[in-house]
Amino acid sequence: MKQFIQLIAFFLAFQCIAQKQEPTFKVNVSQVQSEVSPTMWGIFFEDINMGADGGIYAELVKNRSFEFFKPLMGWKITSPNTLQGFYLGSEITIVNQPEKASTNPRYLHVNLMNPNAKSLGISNEGFRGMGIKKGLRYDFSVFYRQKTAHTVLVIELVSSSGQVLGQTKISPNDTSNEWRKLETSFTANETDAKAKLNIWFEGNGEIDLDMISLFPSDTWKGRKEGLRADMVQMLADMKPGFIRFPGGCIVEGHDLSVRYQWKKTLGPIENRKLIVNRWNYEMAHRLAPDYFQTFGLGFMEYFQLAEDIGAEPLPILNCGMACQFNSGELAPLNQLEPYIQDALDLIEFANGDSTTFWGKVRINLGHPKPFNLKMLGVGNENWGTQYIERLEIFKEKLQAIYPNIKLVCSTGPLPNGPLFDYLNPTLRKMEVGFVDEHFYSRPEWFFANAKRYDSYNQKTKTKVFAGEYASQSVGMVSPENKNNWLTALSEAAFMTGMERNAGVVQMASYAPLFAHIDGWQWTPNLIWVDNLKSMATPNYHVQKIYSNYKGTHTVSMLYKDKQVSAGQDSLFASAVIDKNSQELILKIVNQSKDKRQISIQIEGLSKLPKTGNLIKLENENLEALNTLERPNEIQAVENTITLSGKNVDLAISGYSFTTIRLKTNAK
Ligand code: AHR
Repeated sequence: MKQFIQLIAFFLAFQCIAQKQEPTFKVNVSQVQSEVSPTMWGIFFEDINMGADGGIYAELVKNRSFEFFKPLMGWKITSPNTLQGFYLGSEITIVNQPEKASTNPRYLHVNLMNPNAKSLGISNEGFRGMGIKKGLRYDFSVFYRQKTAHTVLVIELVSSSGQVLGQTKISPNDTSNEWRKLETSFTANETDAKAKLNIWFEGNGEIDLDMISLFPSDTWKGRKEGLRADMVQMLADMKPGFIRFPGGCIVEGHDLSVRYQWKKTLGPIENRKLIVNRWNYEMAHRLAPDYFQTFGLGFMEYFQLAEDIGAEPLPILNCGMACQFNSGELAPLNQLEPYIQDALDLIEFANGDSTTFWGKVRINLGHPKPFNLKMLGVGNENWGTQYIERLEIFKEKLQAIYPNIKLVCSTGPLPNGPLFDYLNPTLRKMEVGFVDEHFYSRPEWFFANAKRYDSYNQKTKTKVFAGEYASQSVGMVSPENKNNWLTALSEAAFMTGMERNAGVVQMASYAPLFAHIDGWQWTPNLIWVDNLKSMATPNYHVQKIYSNYKGTHTVSMLYKDKQVSAGQDSLFASAVIDKNSQELILKIVNQSKDKRQISIQIEGLSKLPKTGNLIKLENENLEALNTLERPNEIQAVENTITLSGKNVDLAISGYSFTTIRLKTNAK
């Protein structure tokens, strides 16, 4: 018996040694498979969840031009009188005068009869409060019009507990009765995430006010009336290959009257006519009646943002179809002209020189250099024969003038089923540049479909743009969805499949991008913010790692001597080399909870380097989350590993995503 046990023990020990010696993965650095497109990993921007207004667009005043459906939404008239706006003969009213400006007809009329100090004023609540920072300068501006100069405005920021955080006084002095812009700045003495802006009126006489605005001075690149720097920095840190804008469903609109029209988003902000944001009323469980698109972040700003963060611009335009989940309104085929002209003009706007009309517009807006637009989306999540009929006309007209612009076209809202099965082959037959596939499914779908592209033909002319994807912890549009570790891990696994098939997939972006913790409609999202801070989800860390270490070429990788695919023994993997940084980059996802001992044999290198770089994202709790209060529960941890021998031997934790970087030019 004793001998038998000894034999078993010897046999088990031998097995362990044998397993340890057997490489799990074999990577051949000299067997290059396909190029990784520089645009491979990018970002999708839509004004959803207060992503633009109330988010990255740093304006702090909500409804600054009184053009919301309810003109005083976001505002309160502050007077001790029970009748709002009337105070001992003084009055405050809203005037609607379309002949003033068809894009911005309403304004505030104030008639003063010497009210006492701080007795009559208006107050703006901001976008779920205003995030104010101690020591920071705030830039206030207002358009005014008056015949006499007897009015004083006291501007003050007040915290949620009623403390004055900063104030200044202005006396408008132009009496031409023409609209003038007045600007002033002041510094805040405390930080508060939920402050409000008060404007107290003093003096007598009449004054009209419009475009009441407050911006922090710490905007991205210090640009006046610009973007929130912390949010842009999060994007820049991803080093995205492209940025798709402005959506999403807002491109289509609930009906065609509220579709996104880029030309209306250029030039002075006071002339950019706001429209309702379709996410205002789309989600019955998360209504946002105060959600409008002011277009402070307009197409010029989108292009500038793309340039700033080194991403290729990918604008998506309406193709003459409103959102098919809503009205599905169609522009008749013989009335597509304005839609097509918008697309032609957009290319000219982005790329034209000073001899072209729209090129000149761009130059006059301060950007002499072209934006070098290479691709254009036509339609978002549109489907059916109506889409193809419209697209064919677009394609013919656009390609006649701009044959090199790649068209990005919708395969509908789902990545399989009848809509997809019709659109996918049809678009490929049309040889469009990209088919745009969307995936909003549960984590198990992402694990199971990490092999989706293994069977795609690598050689076809039409490439895949995985334009919107996010693992849903509960299910699509559930308000209970969380950005937990399981969702991020499943995306990391799915992304190994995209990366391995970089000859098929040339662009991919998580969606949606931003969400305000107090103003969201949709979850999950890549980056969550409040009025002061932004927070990286585990999903963000995954995206950032892929994008930062995307490599330039895929190389051969075997798992137990067979072509690596997805989920073999709960492992998911991909291998790329970067010819610029001279690195081999391996990504491995362990879906199981068990630690794994793996051995990677590297071929095609004269020598293994002595050390390598390891980036780990892991958590034994699949429900783990980052929050604004505890933003670092899941974060990438970087280490140096020491290598000896021929193979890379590693213990991979359960539920982990590991990235290994090795120098390929080791001497
Ligand atoms: O990302 C949120 C929405 O999901 C997008 O607007 C739309 O394209 C998709 O249905």
